[in-house]
Amino acid sequence: MQGDLERVLFPAERIAARVVELAAELRAVYADRELTVVPLLHGGLFFTADLLRALAIPLRLEALTVASYHGGTTSTGAVSFLQQRLPQVAGREVLLVDDILDTGRTLSAVKRRLEAECAPLSVRTCVLLDKREARVAPIEADFVGFPVGNEFVVGYGLDHDGHYRNLPEIGVLRAG
Ligand code: IMP
Ligand code: MG
Repeated sequence: MQGDLERVLFPAERIAARVVELAAELRAVYADRELTVVPLLHGGLFFTADLLRALAIPLRLEALTVASYHGGTTSTGAVSFLQQRLPQVAGREVLLVDDILDTGRTLSAVKRRLEAECAPLSVRTCVLLDKREARVAPIEADFVGFPVGNEFVVGYGLDHDGHYRNLPEIGVLRAG
């Protein structure tokens, strides 16, 4: 699996160190608040699991599964919600967590829907990677691990056709 990478962009140790820093940023904002963390599955799973274990404040965990449709390695823009019930977050501070902010369509659709239908106190967003050049929807994440260039990356939750999510590092696939 590792052999399929052309380049490693973020080794596991670098990710782990940044996750601890992000947890400290989050603790400063959310200590003593009614925090509910909502990872977007499946991509946000690994990042969220590590982030929350470094966070050490009281919180609740929900999850959302959304499908953002991709033609190969590019997003087509349609976002659909794959569960019947939205998270119960009325009156709570919500932190949406995803692996990567690319066009921004997914996070902005989820944020808008939660705000419109779930009466949260606030909705902020946290992503490990921010592909700024690819942005189409008007959204910036409140907490960002690393900026990344406009290339397709895999590992640490990020997949290509369902593969490579469990790579401990993040990198670029070898062509072909
Ligand atoms: P957006 O709606 O275009 O911001 O897309 C967000 C989703 O697209 C993320 O949750 C990822 O699942 C996927 N995605 C975007 N860029 C990449 C990438 O470089 N590698 C793997 N998945 C990606
Ligand atoms: Mg995803």
